[in-house]
Amino acid sequence: MYCKSLHSPVIEAPYTPGMLITVSAADDEMQEVPLLGGDVTEGLVRVGNTVRRPGAVWSPAIAQLLAELETAGFTGAPRHLEIDDRGRHVLSYVDGQVASRPWPEWVSNEGTATSVARLVRAYDDAALLIGIPAWAKDLTRRDPPNAPATIADTPSFIGHMDITPENVVFRAGEAVALIDFDLARPATRVEEVCNILLWWGAWMPERDRELVMRSVDPFERGARIVDAYALDTFDRAQVVEVAQNEAARSWHSMKHRSETIGGGWRRMWDAGVGDRILRRQHWLAANADLLDKAVTIQVA
Ligand SMILES: Nc1ncnc2c1ncn2[C@@H]1O[C@H](COP(=O)(O)OP(=O)(O)O)[C@@H](O)[C@H]1O
Ligand SMILES: [Mg+2]
Repeated sequence: MYCKSLHSPVIEAPYTPGMLITVSAADDEMQEVPLLGGDVTEGLVRVGNTVRRPGAVWSPAIAQLLAELETAGFTGAPRHLEIDDRGRHVLSYVDGQVASRPWPEWVSNEGTATSVARLVRAYDDAALLIGIPAWAKDLTRRDPPNAPATIADTPSFIGHMDITPENVVFRAGEAVALIDFDLARPATRVEEVCNILLWWGAWMPERDRELVMRSVDPFERGARIVDAYALDTFDRAQVVEVAQNEAARSWHSMKHRSETIGGGWRRMWDAGVGDRILRRQHWLAANADLLDKAVTIQVA
């Protein structure tokens, strides 16, 4: 049974293009189907046209972010509907295709990557209107011990910052929604683009890529991604250095999460994610000049 409504009522919610949200009281009697696509969230289930996520410290801020995105008219994210009687956050289920491992062939298509870059651009533009209000303080995570300081500019909006294939919904080959805002935090455009390049641009050593990404040319794909995002010249010049800095920082944050949160983070660490990040750092350093050339030359 629903118990706490955060903002809009669930029944007779207005239709938002792209969202299937025919929610009815009957959903409560519907079966809970575990959603296992991601690595981390335990207890995530689908119930009819909704998804229930166990609450975390940052969940109220994410709920606020999703509500403000909706108000801003941005349709590429789930709607936050309410909190159920078990404290779970109830979101709309976004109908469409989401990749799971092993990634399907289409994840490696250029058109897929550029479509993701355009969606993230639209999200970032909407997030920029929201800015970084006081409620976003729970999304500002302290640096883990010994991590190098960020070299990114001062954040200007709440970035998604986890744009993996498992976190993007597609319809008819077009990226239509970002899901899983658990790592959302104050960020810059360059940081968001670095995150896209990592997952959709194959910016890592070939041996560490998912099978379908091994034939992708990271230089050519990188150029297409920054073009599709329409990153400006000033920001393009920072991409490679920020990617290197992010890689260095992420080794510390993955280690810290595995030690303090455990669960899926621990499993990823035990499966060697730390060593993969170190290899990525070496790959980025070895290819820095060519990567920089690829993303700073604008092809008409
Ligand atoms: N709102 C949603 N709409 C559609 N599918 C979703 C939604 N939320 C989660 N999923 C599906 O469940 C999977 C795991 O959810 P996710 O939120 O990414 O969890 P994790 O934190 O474990 O990565 C996703 O890859 C996607 O397939
Ligand atoms: Mg996920």
